[in-house]
Amino acid sequence: MNGKTRVCGVIGCPVEHSMSPQMHNFYAERTGLNLAYVPFRVEPQAVGDAVKGAYALNLLGLNVTVPHKQRVMEYLVEIDEDARAIGAVNTLVRMEGGYKGYNTDAAGLKRAMDRAGIAIRGQRCLLLGAGGAAKAAAYLLAREGADEVFLLNRNLDRAAQLAGCVNGLTGRDVIRPMALADYGRLSGTGRDFLCIQSTSVGMHPDTDQAVIEDEAFYERIHTGVDIVYTPSETKFMRLVRASGGSAVGGLDMLLYQGIIAYELWNPGTVVDEETASIARQMLL
Ligand code: ATR
Repeated sequence: MNGKTRVCGVIGCPVEHSMSPQMHNFYAERTGLNLAYVPFRVEPQAVGDAVKGAYALNLLGLNVTVPHKQRVMEYLVEIDEDARAIGAVNTLVRMEGGYKGYNTDAAGLKRAMDRAGIAIRGQRCLLLGAGGAAKAAAYLLAREGADEVFLLNRNLDRAAQLAGCVNGLTGRDVIRPMALADYGRLSGTGRDFLCIQSTSVGMHPDTDQAVIEDEAFYERIHTGVDIVYTPSETKFMRLVRASGGSAVGGLDMLLYQGIIAYELWNPGTVVDEETASIARQMLL
């Protein structure tokens, strides 16, 4: 570090568990940029002061984590289209007069799927869950040309609300809400679905659970993507594979949403795949 070091960081509460400082300082080293990244514990009521203070201190950018992803939006000078659609911000980029808010979750999921050779366009899809993570996934699937998306959730009202919202945003009426228990009513019989698992079921410490355990359900899935990343191998992934499909976990989405933030702060800089694969090991 010297007088020219540019500073980024993460605001959250708690923030002590965050892997982002290790990841971003590693990217800075690998891309040869004079950038330092630090954690900032910010209490919920202090998020506005934190954004103002960051601007006054000339911080280049911030990541935003729980519980600030929504509340931070009122303190920004601009909000990117994806973040507006998803209704949450996880990255701030300094611009004239303040910060612009981005959400790199959908782009992170897209890059993870591209790297794994998983196509979205023209696919029949299943999306399990209707929370914040599901919203980013639903928006991505609709925008990238999925043929139809059955949105299955335990709480049907929540599924219907999310489907209506994303259909309205993308102008494509492709998200169809369904009660989770009704999966047996999906049309057809073949292995014709790409399935994104975005419920919190199966997360550490409940690693022996999957939101649906019925083998017949997994016989409909050719590719499974679990957004859960702790553990890196989930029960959902095991069930997809045991049935003959292929499966990936949420670690790469986590990895790439961070890399995309780094690239937003440093236009023209690309984090190469060798760096990404070392960083992936650091996350394990
Ligand atoms: P996030 O923002 O991380 O997506 P969330 O908003 O709490 O988290 O959403 C959690 C999702 O997991 C929801 O879809 C929830 O289903 P409900 O909307 O019906 O509550 C789903 N979920 C959590 N525990 C579940 C369980 N035991 N069975 C089925 N779905 C579950």
